[in-house]
Amino acid sequence: MKKLLAALLATSFATVPMAHAAPQDAPAPSATAAQPWMNARLSPDQRTALLLKRMTLDEKVALLHGPMAMPFGPTMPMPEGAIGSAGYIPGNARLGIPALQESDASLGVTNPMMVRGAKDMSTPLPSGLALAATFDPGIAAVGGAMLGDEARAKGLNVMLAGGVDLTRDPRNGRNFEYLGEDPLLAGVMAGASVRGIQSQGVISTVKHYVLNDQEHNRMTVDSVIGEAAARESDLLAFEIAIEQGHPGSVMCSYNKINGVYGCENDWTLNKVLKKDWGYRGFVMSDWGAVHGLDAFTAGLDQQSGEQLDKQVWFDKPLKAAVAAGAIPETRVDDAAGRVLHAMFAAGLFDKPEAKHAIDFAAHAKIAQNEEENAIVLLDNRKGLLPLAAIAKRIAVIGGHADAGVPAGMGSSQVTNPYHTGPFPVTSAPLGGEGMMAAWNNVVFDPSAPLAAIRDHAKGATVTFDTGAYPEAAAAAARNADVAIVFAYQPSGEGDDVPNMALPFGQDALIEAVAAANPNTIVVLETGNPVRMPWADKVGGVLEAWYGGAKGGEAIARVLFGDVNPSGRLPMSWPIDESQLPRPELPGWGAASDAPVTVDYNIEGADVGYRWYARQGTKPRYAFGHGLSYTSFRYSNLKLAGGKTITASFDVTNTGKAAGSDVPQAYLVSAAGSKTRRLIGFDKVALAPGETKHVTMTADPRLLASFDTGRHGWRIDAGNYQIAIGQDAETDDLTGSVRIDAALLKP
Ligand code: BGC
Repeated sequence: MKKLLAALLATSFATVPMAHAAPQDAPAPSATAAQPWMNARLSPDQRTALLLKRMTLDEKVALLHGPMAMPFGPTMPMPEGAIGSAGYIPGNARLGIPALQESDASLGVTNPMMVRGAKDMSTPLPSGLALAATFDPGIAAVGGAMLGDEARAKGLNVMLAGGVDLTRDPRNGRNFEYLGEDPLLAGVMAGASVRGIQSQGVISTVKHYVLNDQEHNRMTVDSVIGEAAARESDLLAFEIAIEQGHPGSVMCSYNKINGVYGCENDWTLNKVLKKDWGYRGFVMSDWGAVHGLDAFTAGLDQQSGEQLDKQVWFDKPLKAAVAAGAIPETRVDDAAGRVLHAMFAAGLFDKPEAKHAIDFAAHAKIAQNEEENAIVLLDNRKGLLPLAAIAKRIAVIGGHADAGVPAGMGSSQVTNPYHTGPFPVTSAPLGGEGMMAAWNNVVFDPSAPLAAIRDHAKGATVTFDTGAYPEAAAAAARNADVAIVFAYQPSGEGDDVPNMALPFGQDALIEAVAAANPNTIVVLETGNPVRMPWADKVGGVLEAWYGGAKGGEAIARVLFGDVNPSGRLPMSWPIDESQLPRPELPGWGAASDAPVTVDYNIEGADVGYRWYARQGTKPRYAFGHGLSYTSFRYSNLKLAGGKTITASFDVTNTGKAAGSDVPQAYLVSAAGSKTRRLIGFDKVALAPGETKHVTMTADPRLLASFDTGRHGWRIDAGNYQIAIGQDAETDDLTGSVRIDAALLKP
């Protein structure tokens, strides 16, 4: 792993090839006549078929359900054999089937309730939105490989990662775990992350399938949407992630889709995922998302976290249904076969458990590199950044910048806060009641921006004010050359934020500081876009997301110009809620078990920037937006048409600093119809004056409409116009090309 990471770090991140599930460090157990499926030279299909033939019904059913891997109330101790994590499916000693030890999640290996003891440490990566803001699948693959390595180091072999629900609402409490609003960007980044995880011999999921786009009333909310719109948006993100990442499992979601729960939805599971996409892995439920045995017939293969459901339907009731002939045993074979196939494909049979020490120093560098590529310079209107040497007195204010950088809350949270060690954290219970309360801690990963700023600001005086009282903060700002206000927004699993405002009076704090000193820079650490009523009054704004193990260092390096910011917004940044398809958060104020409907037909497939383009309105910052300390120019656009569009053009660094750009290609009209779709992006590192030639070929589905009548992606013949720009609103180069008619399989 060490060598792999060193090689990956040394390579251009945009072009890192990740081998899919290449078992490396242990010899395969040899096959015996008694266990021919142990022969690693056979394909996963062959091995699955050989093993299934030897299994009894009980043994097959045992693979189809499992408990949370933690003590659950006084009557349920830690399941025997579980090492402690989110979930556990016992193995089978007779047949040599390893247990599934399942852990959250995509931002680090978690340790819920510290079930593996207080000394168990993991590296917290920056949030998913931060990862998406890098626009760099190579970085996603490296982070994924790091997660896979840490999971294996602890004896875990399934990562409940790959969150790819689209940002349809900038109040979703879990957006921070996901990858933004665009299906291409989100799908590619999730796919790369999954590839990285599985390269370490660990299964990854993608989740939460599907249209799990708000947390409020997540157990009851019904996401209503037409088929074509779903296929072109949320489903497409999953489709791309699955094609590119080959996750062993797909986790279905809590919510309903068009009236039917995600884990018992024949349309999304059987028809779309398994039939149309030919998915070979298994579907596991989200924890507490199973409502009956119908789910099994509808395509759910495994009931996870079974203590949370009313019954363990996938055990005795399933066997009884098979005995009664209500469910054919072939369906049990199919489900168990899918679990086994994923295990063979990821190398779980061939790579015996290999607990090892974690190289935290190397992994911290991975987290830092990701964050340095993720920070978005939203505004630099006064040119205050990078901080010049004349900033002799710097007032750092607010956001617990003396403690660390905030992390998102919920099951994805790396729970080092309670320990000492490489990444101890300060934690403050945000409170609440019920299951999620234990996870609802605003945790600060202990990479304090204040200390990092002090390290960088050689010769300058750096003061800190907590920001608790705007008057005191303003006084500190008045005595400084530059004021840097840190403002954070906690967000987490289990509920949405009620509105887009910064909490804790931080708007008033920023206003007061900016009034005292116009040289004010705001560093946002949020899980979503927030209102910025003070935007015109401050000199510059950075979005630093939830920054992970080395967030403070990364922020300081961007502030001082050691790193030229290259992050780009993976979602549009609305001015306020009035610009949203649903200004009121659906169900806000309703009881938590009240049925709530969210009408996604309002925007349909026009999520985010496509919604603003359709409405003819402009958000505060466009999808793809992000400034740099240098400038870039595009030229020499050449287009080729036919089956799809290939665009090639030059990107030149026209400024004085080295930096990376993210050129983006958008389809702006298709055979006469106006549209706006990201069809390509790249991350290009350029020295001052340097030019690189970039080529992007569109996935033909991005040129198509989903035709429900003909059941496929329909491309109409005609002229297709595209624009190359630095964000979804700025068309620097345009051109058009002829595309042939086609009907692609769903
Ligand atoms: C979350 C999943 C998570 C699971 C196991 C659920 O509450 O929605 O994302 O993987 O718990 O912890």
